Amino acid sequence: MSTLFEPLTVRGMTVSNRIAMSPMLMYMAAEDGVARDLHLVHYGARILGGVGLVMTEVTAVLPEGRISTSDLGLWSDEHIPGLARIVDFAHEHGAKMGLQLAHAGRKSKAQEQGVAPSAIAYEGLPVPRELTAPEIDDIVGAYAEAARRAVAAGFDCLELHVAHGYLLHEFLSPIANARTDEYGGSLENRSRIVLRIASEIRRIVPDSMPIFVRLSAEDVVDGGISLKESSWLASQLMAEGVDLFDVSTGNIVPGYEAPVYPGYQANYALDLKKELGVMTAAMGSISSPELAEYLVSSGAADLVFVGRALLRDPHWALGAARLAGADPHLAIPTYARATGPYERGF
Ligand SMILES: Cc1cc2nc3c(=O)[nH]c(=O)nc-3n(C[C@H](O)[C@H](O)[C@H](O)COP(=O)(O)O)c2cc1C
Repeated sequence: MSTLFEPLTVRGMTVSNRIAMSPMLMYMAAEDGVARDLHLVHYGARILGGVGLVMTEVTAVLPEGRISTSDLGLWSDEHIPGLARIVDFAHEHGAKMGLQLAHAGRKSKAQEQGVAPSAIAYEGLPVPRELTAPEIDDIVGAYAEAARRAVAAGFDCLELHVAHGYLLHEFLSPIANARTDEYGGSLENRSRIVLRIASEIRRIVPDSMPIFVRLSAEDVVDGGISLKESSWLASQLMAEGVDLFDVSTGNIVPGYEAPVYPGYQANYALDLKKELGVMTAAMGSISSPELAEYLVSSGAADLVFVGRALLRDPHWALGAARLAGADPHLAIPTYARATGPYERGF
């Protein structure tokens, strides 16, 4: 029996299996942030390839919140049709679509100087400009507006990117946040912007729409955030209506000092699940179907986010289904002609 190919319901969204495409920035949007045919084909290939949930790459809530000038954006209604086309395609072929909302903060290379909680540079990048409190209000508003547009585009769920050293993670981590106002200092203060955004988004999106949060559960560096702090934050986010945590680590500074091996971050997903009884997604170097099956069958996580394995092979999920003896959802039923032994002929 394969749990990997069992459906999962999160609020009003039911995914057909437990395989999610991990958000991966392709650096292929035009400078206006609009999705191109190329995005439809790129995501469409994974949709036809049997992934239950496709999460978009980082999608910037403001132009200055882009990692690069080739990021997707959702700061204008003009971004809606290009994204809606991909969502419609997913729905037509049995997949669900999530959108990852992001602001790159001090790691933005879209302009000469990024913005951040404090004027502390990410090594190798310019010193960012410290955000004022009214500017923080504007950013909260930009997230809410982008969420409204994502709903208009038909997305099934949203993910807030609170990991990998981008703006919301910068607020959380004392490594990047030295503020002395209500957004800095105590964990409660450092969490304030994230909690405000989650609360605003929950107010705007339909009740049935799940909200995921991607966390860097630990900074894996001296003076950074700990799992205990992330667990507290997750409990507060749950109270604001967040449904699932997609658990990563690190990247507040360049380099990653801890060991990396298949499924190396899954223990964090399990810890959050055990402590809070919340749904989690495991991610990071999950590239074998057997490991993916183990993680969801053992209860470490409800979903697996698969990244690079899906870049290598858009049909990774169909291969995993065959291995598990599960009946894969074939958007193109004729693909079944390719599953028999080769000597049978066509
Ligand atoms: C090319 C590339 C782009 C990525 N872009 C994003 C992104 O937009 N948002 C994000 O949260 N993570 C991003 N990541 C991280 C992946 O989502 C994933 O968590 C990471 O690659 C580890 O999973 P994997 O070993 O299955 O690839 C990116 C990774 C790669 C390789």
